[in-house]
Amino acid sequence: MLDGRRVLLIISGGIAAYKSLELIRRLKDRGCAVRCILTKGGANFVTPLAVAALSGDKVYQETFSLTDEAEMGHIRLSREADLVVAAPATAHLLAKMAAGLADDLASTALLATDKPVLIAPAMNTMMWEHPATRANLATLEARGIRRIGPGAGELACGEVGAGRMAEPAEILAAIEVMLSDGPLKGVRAVVTSGPTHEAIDPVRYIANRSSGKQGHAIAAALAALGAEVTLISGPVALPDPAGLRVVRVESAVAMLDAVRAALPAEVVVCAAAVADWTVANRATEKRKKTAGAPPPAIELTPNPDILMTVSQAGEQRPRLVVGFAAETEALLDNARAKLTRKGCDWIVANDVSEDSGTFGGDANTVHLLTADGVDSWPRMGKAEVAARLAERIAAKLGKA
Ligand code: CTP
Repeated sequence: MLDGRRVLLIISGGIAAYKSLELIRRLKDRGCAVRCILTKGGANFVTPLAVAALSGDKVYQETFSLTDEAEMGHIRLSREADLVVAAPATAHLLAKMAAGLADDLASTALLATDKPVLIAPAMNTMMWEHPATRANLATLEARGIRRIGPGAGELACGEVGAGRMAEPAEILAAIEVMLSDGPLKGVRAVVTSGPTHEAIDPVRYIANRSSGKQGHAIAAALAALGAEVTLISGPVALPDPAGLRVVRVESAVAMLDAVRAALPAEVVVCAAAVADWTVANRATEKRKKTAGAPPPAIELTPNPDILMTVSQAGEQRPRLVVGFAAETEALLDNARAKLTRKGCDWIVANDVSEDSGTFGGDANTVHLLTADGVDSWPRMGKAEVAARLAERIAAKLGKA
């Protein structure tokens, strides 16, 4: 429930604005007060009357409307909310936000706000993939602005691709996470997830069977308890969890760079199945097979150990560092040795032997190793493992 919470919803000019009407209704159903700014473009797609009727409040449209400014200035408008949501957020609005422009009420409120901001981008695929939009998005995300979507599919313009605004239910879930008053509120968390890909040449790579399901579930569970989560994900086929920042990487080296950029954090969970080695003789052109020639030799060189690097980060060391031990034999002995060798605080040990069904599956049997000993959990779904681990983390950080 969102009883007593206040959202300032900015509806900018995209056909997806019709979905924002549904979002207002769902927020209201949960007891959330919704105040809306409708941009000039937005008013081409939905009427002020529909927005006002659903939100049960006046709709704000002009910066210099004398009545609006007398009743509620743009500064107060942006500060009185607990959260500012721009849905749909057009390419133009994102560009204005990134540049700090303030030429209408929506962009002025976004510049003046001191509250968290969530954007739900919606646009044509070419616009979404344009380097200008990518750069604007990177700027906004580096400033801590959260994003939900867009999804891929058939777009209103008839083209198929990424750019479709997230569904109202997904945006609502992200809002609930961001407004959560959970025990980890204000705690910064970093989670690594998925495999890494180590390039052999421009078309081939070495990978592993990690699906990212457990790591993604942990990131979502920490966010559900109110943590500010950065999920650093290797290549996976999973959707981005709602309400957190996702950084996608390919190689172990890129993953380490992304983790470093996300620090400081109070808790880091390394759930990624990072490749231990990368290709030393990576070819810049595709390796060709030549009749009669022997197959090429692939030379490997060690990758940096992200878990160990974070555990030994000196002043930047998080209060709690959690690693995983994926083993196929002598599970607890190997996990204990890993805890000492890597210098982390906890290890989540799991059996990934072929008949365990852990890799790619939805369930997991884990043992949590801490300084206090071993806690063996029964076999359960990965989401449940994640929720339990997030609760233990909240208890450890003294916020549960
Ligand atoms: N890990 C990491 N960076 C690496 C390798 C591993 O951060 N380069 C992390 C994983 O995310 C996991 C933990 O270290 O939390 C254990 O990884 P695992 O591959 O199981 O252990 P290894 O160090 O490879 O040890 P071994 O080869 O003995 O299994």
